[in-house]
Amino acid sequence: MNPGGPHPERQADTARPAIADRFGRVKRKLRVSLTDRCNYRCVYCMPECPVWKPRADILRFEELHALVGFFVRRLGIEQVRLTGGEPLVRRGVAGFVRMLADLRASGLNRVSLSSNGVMLARFAGALARAGLDDVNVSLDAISPALFSRMTGGGQVRDVLRGIEAARKAGLRVKLNAVVIRGMNQDEIVPLTEFAVSEDLPLRFIEFMPLDGRGFWSADKVVTEREILALVCERFEVSATERTNEPASYYLLDSKFQLGIIATVSNPFCARCDRVRLTADGRVFSCLFAPAGVDLREALARSAGGAESLDSLVREAIWNKPAGFIELRGRGEVSMNVLGG
Ligand code: 5AD
Ligand code: SF4
Repeated sequence: MNPGGPHPERQADTARPAIADRFGRVKRKLRVSLTDRCNYRCVYCMPECPVWKPRADILRFEELHALVGFFVRRLGIEQVRLTGGEPLVRRGVAGFVRMLADLRASGLNRVSLSSNGVMLARFAGALARAGLDDVNVSLDAISPALFSRMTGGGQVRDVLRGIEAARKAGLRVKLNAVVIRGMNQDEIVPLTEFAVSEDLPLRFIEFMPLDGRGFWSADKVVTEREILALVCERFEVSATERTNEPASYYLLDSKFQLGIIATVSNPFCARCDRVRLTADGRVFSCLFAPAGVDLREALARSAGGAESLDSLVREAIWNKPAGFIELRGRGEVSMNVLGG
């Protein structure tokens, strides 16, 4: 293995720096988890009794900014998505979005957020003014009772209010729904109807084994094919050409684009252009990587030159596994730490 090997410095068409893994997959997207904490307990994400990381282990925004700057300037990352846990339970997220603005001159072209939506009613305006481009909101059910069951007590009306506030603030909003057999497969059609009527892009996501509570099993996965079959009962559906995105897109009634992310039945690992950074400063090359590479010490030493940070990150990315099948069940961290 040679992290400085043949491809990683390959220049992209735009002459920006580019980092690729040993399978030649160039990384352009960085997901940054701002906290492992959350005000929800979604069954597909959180351990039943989560143990939060000590606050002292969480990187300060200045440190995170330095790391994101490194990824953008040195490695050619172009898009950053802030995740959690629930990123908005951390104080000062809008301020952090504003801090990232200086990286636009170095090639950062999009700053997004993934949120459960509850706190958007409060923060959407500030986030939009700070320069946030768009927000993905989880909405796994429209039925209040089922929504509450899926999220461990959440109120769907809070999320709907958050979505409304985000749209009013001028943020682009997309909906994500994880589908679990025996829980919310009957919500597929109502959720789609809601999304169509509100003209909100919607993606269904197959349930991945990352719930941190051993709840996942193969039979709980409602596959892309099954989701489509249900949608077809209600809408005229035609497939659209596959893009580089993780979702396959379908056109409903010739007007609405529905996405399905078949993370289990048809993984997009072969085209994966993501890297993940946890709130405590570990880089994960894959959702299913057995462990992260800790960057904290290197970050502290990097003031005079980013060399050790550089080699650590390059090695982590170079060693990215081929895909999720290779690693199934070996990961040690749950989704609230990895941030989806
Ligand atoms: N399987 C699939 N998607 C998941 N998410 C969280 N946990 C899982 C899982 N086990 C998704 C949620 C959330 C995003 C951050 O990650 O849809 O919107
Ligand atoms: Fe919280 Fe999102 Fe995980 Fe649900 S999926 S518990 S909202 S971090």
